[in-house]
Amino acid sequence: MKEKILDLFTRDALETARANNTYRTMRLMESPESSRVKIRMPNGASQEQILLASNSYLDLANVGELKQAMAQAVLEWGTGSGGARLTTGNKTIHQELEEFIAKFKGEESAITFNTGYMANVGTISALCGKNDFIFSDELNHASIIDGIRLSRAKCFVYKHNDMVDLKRVILAAKAEFSTREMHTENAAIHATAKQDARSFRGLIVTDAVFSMDGDLANLPELLRIAKENDCLLMIDEAHATGVLGKTGRGLAEHYGCAHADVTVGTLSKAVAAEGGFVAGKQQLIDFLRNKARSFIFTTAMAPAVAAAACNNLRYIDVHPERVQNLRDNVNFFCEALQYEGVNVVQSPSAIVPIVIGDEARALKISAALQDAGILIPAIRYPTVAKGQARLRASLMATHTREQLQTAASVISQIIKSTN
Ligand SMILES: Cc1ncc(COP(=O)(O)O)c(C=O)c1O
Repeated sequence: MKEKILDLFTRDALETARANNTYRTMRLMESPESSRVKIRMPNGASQEQILLASNSYLDLANVGELKQAMAQAVLEWGTGSGGARLTTGNKTIHQELEEFIAKFKGEESAITFNTGYMANVGTISALCGKNDFIFSDELNHASIIDGIRLSRAKCFVYKHNDMVDLKRVILAAKAEFSTREMHTENAAIHATAKQDARSFRGLIVTDAVFSMDGDLANLPELLRIAKENDCLLMIDEAHATGVLGKTGRGLAEHYGCAHADVTVGTLSKAVAAEGGFVAGKQQLIDFLRNKARSFIFTTAMAPAVAAAACNNLRYIDVHPERVQNLRDNVNFFCEALQYEGVNVVQSPSAIVPIVIGDEARALKISAALQDAGILIPAIRYPTVAKGQARLRASLMATHTREQLQTAASVISQIIKSTN
């Protein structure tokens, strides 16, 4: 009987996923994250692979001095924080990390969350409520979408990176707001109780680097539109921190322009630790400390993780050449792929999507690449739209030219042979 009830909740979804080639399994890695890894093959054997799929873009997870520093932090701080930030979990190392993030990002203040996912969900749902309007790029990350859903604000999705469409939806929202206010006012007059006038509140939110496409949000134009329309602007720099700009400060450094009002980021990708953050004005950070539920109602990140994030960020600060090596590698790899006849554009980030289209074909190519010693997973629906399955290659600062040239040739051969 119990199994029958479980079937009721789960069987259809699993069967549909299997039928659509979207059923997910996990790959087992036997070595730490780096540009070369060892994985467990389906037959149980170990195999070395060139890893072209990591978010550890600067390859810091496996740097000797940073591992030592984290081990030392465990000895100093123990294994866990033991409480929420607002009870007993807040250690001096958490504060040190937040101060360093603020400095690194050139902001007044910063607050950390346990993951980037929690930073997005907590920030959006704290800032916006059901009377507010959110303008969201159609390719935004799931954590932004979930934050919007949780906020219950009215969401207008604009076409990817389309600033004309963004202006169109802002106008539509303002018109809806005026109509709504008129009705509220009329109702209030009938009820002979005058309501306070409410102001229009709109939040524009976008990924800085789109995680499955590798392209960039147009920050200068977004800043202009936000200002012109009295909207708040939030960008998610999950794939931008440590990657964009000469010293890895992110999208504003890349464009040489002002910052968004709210900058979210993660400590789990180029920074190679774990956690998320928001950087901005002191008032914003004070507000989130008081109102973001994913900050308040959870145990603080382990102090050793905070220490690792802080040490790794400091490392990026004094080693900008890593950021430059990453950029050079991306340029080299894109050119090598183009030379081999693979249809890719020059990526401005560390992410190079090779769009295949059909889900089953993308899986087949990814499996053939793995057999050839190159690890690039196939990304499928629902992570990307149906029929837009792709190999999502991502580069590291430490890949060698030889590895990248070999990978480009093998990718080209395998794509051609599975036509
Ligand atoms: C754009 C974007 N935002 C947020 C996140 C979540 O960050 P985290 O892995 O730290 O939860 C991710 C990836 O996981 C992402 O790609």
